[in-house]
Amino acid sequence: MESTHLDTCLSVQPYKAQLLKWIGNKQRFAHEIISFFPKRFGAYHEPFLGSGAILGVLAPNKAEAADSFKPLITIWQTLKKNPEIIKQWYRERWEEAQQGDKVEQYEKIKARYNANTNAADFLFLTRAAYGGVIRFRKADGYMSTPCGVHKPIHFGVFGRRVNERAERVRGAEFFHREYAESLDRVREGDVVYCDPPYSHS
Ligand SMILES: C[S@@+](CC[C@H](N)C(=O)[O-])C[C@H]1O[C@@H](n2cnc3c(N)ncnc32)[C@H](O)[C@@H]1O
Repeated sequence: MESTHLDTCLSVQPYKAQLLKWIGNKQRFAHEIISFFPKRFGAYHEPFLGSGAILGVLAPNKAEAADSFKPLITIWQTLKKNPEIIKQWYRERWEEAQQGDKVEQYEKIKARYNANTNAADFLFLTRAAYGGVIRFRKADGYMSTPCGVHKPIHFGVFGRRVNERAERVRGAEFFHREYAESLDRVREGDVVYCDPPYSHS
């Protein structure tokens, strides 16, 4: 079957800014990975989106990006719908973090997230957690990563990244779903990039 939308012509410009700090992200290798993609293809599919490093660098005309982790995909869906909300989420928590001891404030936000899983707190935690490692307890999904030694980027810098990233994902739709469902959506002529979790993690 011929692809009906071989419309994505590859002309990939360097792009390094990360919206989320995410262990295992493929930012550093994005250009090399993309160099293996065909020059022209239909839709781009990324079933294990994470921080979306490849999607961000590729900035395809038409894409389906998905992840089984709800708070993460809510961030991406919100970015697409209204980037100002993402900026506001981050700014509020960045300011909250300034209102006392850095570690104590981080632990407060983490406790709030653990009491009520939500995308807004999770967004800040990805930027502030130690080494961008988002670790969950197996038994109950409790997010356990301690506070990072670094200073989370200023909301102004983050806001500029939001604007850039929102542009880059214009052609993408975001879905909360299992990878098998994403793979069912692939048509001939499309490109699929899979970066599943490591088996030991
Ligand atoms: C190694 S990370 C992907 C990193 C990504 N390439 C990046 O640059 O940030 C793997 C992702 O797969 C997601 N994931 C794990 N199991 C999944 C499943 N069964 N279906 C869909 N996504 C899944 C995780 O939530 C995580 O975001």
